[in-house]
Amino acid sequence: MKKADKYKELFNKEYLMGPNSIRLLEEMLEKYPLRRGTRVLDLGCGKGLTSLFLAKEADVNVFAADLWISATENNIRFNEWEVSDKVIPIHADANDLPFAEEYFDAIVSIDSFHYVATQPNFFKKKI
Ligand SMILES: C[S@@+](CC[C@H](N)C(=O)[O-])C[C@H]1O[C@@H](n2cnc3c(N)ncnc32)[C@H](O)[C@@H]1O
Repeated sequence: MKKADKYKELFNKEYLMGPNSIRLLEEMLEKYPLRRGTRVLDLGCGKGLTSLFLAKEADVNVFAADLWISATENNIRFNEWEVSDKVIPIHADANDLPFAEEYFDAIVSIDSFHYVATQPNFFKKKI
């Protein structure tokens, strides 16, 4: 059984903003595992499903950043899902991230990078 299957009840129109984000993340983590306790930016986290999975299944500390979904809205969900000790909601534009350089051990961006990386050399300049 895939770990993603545990979250099936959340695969509904209230939370999903694209293809099965949790399944995509699980497959990515199988290939690129994260060390427990590391600091991860979930860039374009949407409604936070991937942040939930990162906190619960990879046991990492997550900064959940998104532009269209407010930090307040995501904070309510993170409280309900009982991951507030591990997930910090941030309202931010990927083009103007409010973090120190090299602050994160890893950046995860599931089904979001093509939304955020619209300017030339985005990766080199902003990531
Ligand atoms: C298709 S949704 C995917 C959300 C989530 N990762 C998921 O898979 O459920 C794309 C997300 O990219 C975010 N986004 C678009 N442009 C952005 C930007 N410039 N900075 C930060 N997030 C951005 C949107 O707010 C939206 O939540």
